Amino acid sequence: MGAGKYLSVFTPATEEQRKANFEDYWKFTQQHGGELFEDDKDLAKKRARLKYFQDNPVKLQKPLANPELFYRNYVEMQDDPKSLDRLTLMLTGMYKFARHEWVGIKGAWDSVPDMANSRTVEDKISRVHLAEEFCHVRLFDEMLKTCGLNKVEWVPLGPIKEKVYEQFPKFPSFLVDTPAFVTELMGVTFYCHLHALIEDVLADEPDVRDRLKELLDEITIDEVAHVGQRRNFIGSIGMKVSKVLVGPFYTMFFNDIPEVAELFDVKQMIKDGLAFDFNDLPEHMIERSWIPSYCIA
Ligand SMILES: [Fe+2]
Ligand SMILES: [Fe+2]
Repeated sequence: MGAGKYLSVFTPATEEQRKANFEDYWKFTQQHGGELFEDDKDLAKKRARLKYFQDNPVKLQKPLANPELFYRNYVEMQDDPKSLDRLTLMLTGMYKFARHEWVGIKGAWDSVPDMANSRTVEDKISRVHLAEEFCHVRLFDEMLKTCGLNKVEWVPLGPIKEKVYEQFPKFPSFLVDTPAFVTELMGVTFYCHLHALIEDVLADEPDVRDRLKELLDEITIDEVAHVGQRRNFIGSIGMKVSKVLVGPFYTMFFNDIPEVAELFDVKQMIKDGLAFDFNDLPEHMIERSWIPSYCIA
C-alpha cells in the first residue's frame, strides 16, 4: 500500500486531460482483455483465465450443509435472513448483487453501438466495458460452482425493472454518466468488503477461500479500471453531483438486498466510496488495472 501515491477519484480534471485519458484507457483495455468476441460477449484473455479456473477446480472440504437453503433464497429471500448461516447468506447476497449487474448490462448491450458501428473512442471503450461485465457474471457463476452450487440460474428482474435498465443507456449522457460512475464505484467498494468477508467466513476452508479471492480479484481489477474510466466521462459539475449521489445511491441499492444488512456495514461502504483514492488497493491489482493520470500524485 503506497499511502499518498494516488489522489481521490473525485479529483477535478480538464477537458484535455480527459480526452488524453480516453485514448490511454483505450490502449489499456485492448491489451487487458485481448480480442473481443462480440457474438459471445466475451474477451480472449478473460476466457482463458476462466478456463484455467474451470480446469483446476477446488471444492469445500465440508460441503454446504443445506444447499436447498441457498436455492430457496437466492433469487428472493424467503426465510428470515438471520436464520441462515453466514456462508449461505454471503453466497445468496453475492448472487443478488451480480444479478443486478447482469440485468443492467443485458439491457445496455443491445442499445449501444456494436464495435463495427462505434464511431468514437468512447463508444469502443463502452463496448469492451460491457463485454468485461459479462465476463464478471461468468466469474461469479464460477464462484458459486466452487461452493458446489451447480444449478444456479440467472433470472431476469420483473418486466418493469428490465425495461428501465434497457432504456437507461439511451438517456442523454449528462443523466447517464454520474449514476454510471457511482455504480462502478459502488461495485469496487462492495468487492473490497466482500473480499474481507470471504477471508472471515471461509477461514477454515483455505482452498476455496483463496480461489474465491482469486476469482473476485479478476473482477475487481476490471472494476477499478471502470471507476477511473467512468469518472473520465464527467466534468466538474457532474463530479459534484456524483459525490452527492454516493450516499443515497448506496443506501437505496443495498436496501434492496436483505443479506447486506446482516453481513456488511453500509455506512462504512459509503465512507469508503467517498474516500476512494486507489491507495488501499494491493500492488498486484494496481499493476493490472488502470488509473486516470490526474489521480496519480
Ligand atoms: Fe462488473
Ligand atoms: Fe464495471
